Amino acid sequence: MISRFSRPLQALRSGSAGKQKSTIAAVHAAVAPFEGAKCVAASLMNMGKQIHVAFSDGSAFQLHGLWLRDACRDAMVVSQQAGERYLDKIAFSPEGHHSRGEVQEARVCEDGLEVTWKRDPQIGDAPSHFSSGFLRMYAPIAGKALGGQRHHPRNEDFRWLRGYSGFSNAPAPDASMKALWKNQVGVNPFEHRDYHAVRHSDSANLEMMQAVMEHGVVILDNVPHSEDSSILLDFVDNCLGGMQKDPARDEPNWVIKRKAGAVSVSYAQQTRLNNHTDQSVPAHGIPALLLVINYVEGSGVNTLVDGYAVAEALRERDPKAFDLLASYGNCQERDFVKSRVDSSQMGTQSMLLATRSPIIQTDEQGNLIRVQFNEVFRTPSTVPYDTFESWYDAYLLWNEMIHDKEFEVEVPMSAGQMLVLDNWRVLHGRAGKKSSPNRMIMGGTVVREAFHSKAVQLMGGFYPPEEAAFGRFQQGEASG
Ligand SMILES: [Fe+2]
Repeated sequence: MISRFSRPLQALRSGSAGKQKSTIAAVHAAVAPFEGAKCVAASLMNMGKQIHVAFSDGSAFQLHGLWLRDACRDAMVVSQQAGERYLDKIAFSPEGHHSRGEVQEARVCEDGLEVTWKRDPQIGDAPSHFSSGFLRMYAPIAGKALGGQRHHPRNEDFRWLRGYSGFSNAPAPDASMKALWKNQVGVNPFEHRDYHAVRHSDSANLEMMQAVMEHGVVILDNVPHSEDSSILLDFVDNCLGGMQKDPARDEPNWVIKRKAGAVSVSYAQQTRLNNHTDQSVPAHGIPALLLVINYVEGSGVNTLVDGYAVAEALRERDPKAFDLLASYGNCQERDFVKSRVDSSQMGTQSMLLATRSPIIQTDEQGNLIRVQFNEVFRTPSTVPYDTFESWYDAYLLWNEMIHDKEFEVEVPMSAGQMLVLDNWRVLHGRAGKKSSPNRMIMGGTVVREAFHSKAVQLMGGFYPPEEAAFGRFQQGEASG
């Protein structure tokens, strides 16, 4: 299947694509500039309080001098080793001798702009340097557009990642970049990738991450055998940003293998496990973004459901039920010691987490962010008396839909395969009586921040989203 994400890969080819992975992943500065149009002209405005900059692509912008002075990332003001500002170089002094960022001179140089400042007690007459790429990336966001194409061409490349920045009021994941699926006879909706290709190529790694977010599921084939979690942890740490660690167990990963007389359904491998999203430790109430399951031994059949497809179908067929599930919380509680009673791993301390998040979570515009549901951990509802009966009908309908053959897809899995899925979107379960007696799986979760961090590294740097893309500010502008 052709990915919808061709631009990041094109961009990578001119950068780090195709290279073998280094043992330590390159860390890019938070404001790493991307190549782009050259700065071709600059002039002072308003006695140097602002400057006008023009680029070779015909775009032009007005920038505050104070913004430039503050935004500078030169080695003179930011430690390149520590990635921190030098506190004695910021435009602030306790004595009140603040630089106002007024520009003395702005001169176009070979790659960008060289700026000197009027009355700057912290850096004096030393020039500040701004590369063309840096200016062209930030000017549409922090400056006033005066003409030409507004955004840097790389802006569009980051659209797939915007919903996962963790920024306050970040938009929901872009629905137009999601390929929803159902259970269709003769159609296998799941993407497959070769483990070795992904593990040893940055471009294949990025493409796999984008495929997970587009399709919800990627199955890795040809995963090497290991007796322990080393292959799983190596893959998740190197290709997905690192596995989530919870405080109740020494190892970041879980292990599920056959146990006679298991009382927890997770470990009773011949028993049907209902479709659910994993709760792990929902940091600040937000469940992990990815779930990774490595089939270490044996085989089994997982059930997978596209929660976005179910939610959109519910919105269309029964809007009231959708609204109820998106408005009221669903009470769940997980005892991290009890729920691992059948585990071969030792718990290290007790932990009890209660959540009350809606089963369907949307942004202010009603766009889907995630689904969150795990029947085994559900606790007494706190939906108000007057609403409870209709909420319960909606919950039953949801439960029916996520187990209906219209949406539930069975996927046979066996040793040498690894399942990577979007835990905000895809519910997973286990078909009954289809696991081999020796089935052993290991897995764990990846939090949004780890995924985003890895993606940014592979994309070559962080591209700042504009404030107006964030709901609250957009609404403020519209009403103001
Ligand atoms: Fe699970």
